[in-house]
Amino acid sequence: MDDATIEIRHLHKTFPLTRKQRKEKHTEATRLTAVNDISLTLRSGEIYGLLGPNGAGKTTTLRMLSSLIDPDSGEVLFHGQNIKDNIGEYRKRVSFLTSELKLDDFFTPDYTFHYMGELFGVSKDEILSRKKALFDKFGINDFANVQIKNLSTGMKQKASLAIALCHDPEVIIFDEPTNGLDIIASRDVENFLIDLRKEGKTIIVSTHIFSLVEKLCDRVGIIANGSLVLEGEMREVTKEKSLENVFFDLLEEGRI
Ligand SMILES: Nc1ncnc2c1ncn2[C@@H]1O[C@H](COP(=O)(O)OP(=O)(O)O)[C@@H](O)[C@H]1O
Ligand SMILES: [Mg+2]
Repeated sequence: MDDATIEIRHLHKTFPLTRKQRKEKHTEATRLTAVNDISLTLRSGEIYGLLGPNGAGKTTTLRMLSSLIDPDSGEVLFHGQNIKDNIGEYRKRVSFLTSELKLDDFFTPDYTFHYMGELFGVSKDEILSRKKALFDKFGINDFANVQIKNLSTGMKQKASLAIALCHDPEVIIFDEPTNGLDIIASRDVENFLIDLRKEGKTIIVSTHIFSLVEKLCDRVGIIANGSLVLEGEMREVTKEKSLENVFFDLLEEGRI
């Protein structure tokens, strides 16, 4: 796999369970295994879809991949190098996007874009040209100087997306890309991901939406209970039946 941008190897992650959680989950165990030995490879110019139900371990996997949390064991290699060896550089080349908004209500998209660009060490000229391209693309220009608290949810989402890409990341990790978006904003985001793929970016999206994976992804990994149950090229996986049927057949076979 010499063309791999990212290799995830044997990631494990557990979380402590509180007494209340133990009761809710009817278990005596003191820890919950969120991710159980996940390995996968991401390549440039490809969208990988991590598909699974709620609680499957998608967000935890992507947070480890983004270096936001540490795995209990296992490793993430970026161009063959463990991300822990140079975490600052890795973070400059990766963007973790989620539909949960994290923009500060009191600032404007314009201000926030510049602020984040400077934080990532992007030059002034580069910030201006990237801002123009991204704000044009997402139709943010008319709202660039409106306080974020006064933007619609869809516009906030688009602004947060543009801002998360201010440093032109090579790797885009997108947790539930269209969650909470209206259909028009979802379409914009999908088209944007397709453009990013054309630029040769390395992209992984997590979702529980079959049609999103079928529409966008080149490869799919089905995750359930913290494990990758099935993985393959979309074309292969859906050769005989729809992705939804593939999933529910796995469920019937007791593999999910
Ligand atoms: N910080 C945390 N503390 C305790 N349990 C967590 C934490 N984050 C996730 N979990 C648990 O780990 C499992 C996987 O969660 P998550 O990765 O968020 O799944 P998904 O994104 O697929 O819905 C779930 O059972 C969830 O409750
Ligand atoms: Mg999640």
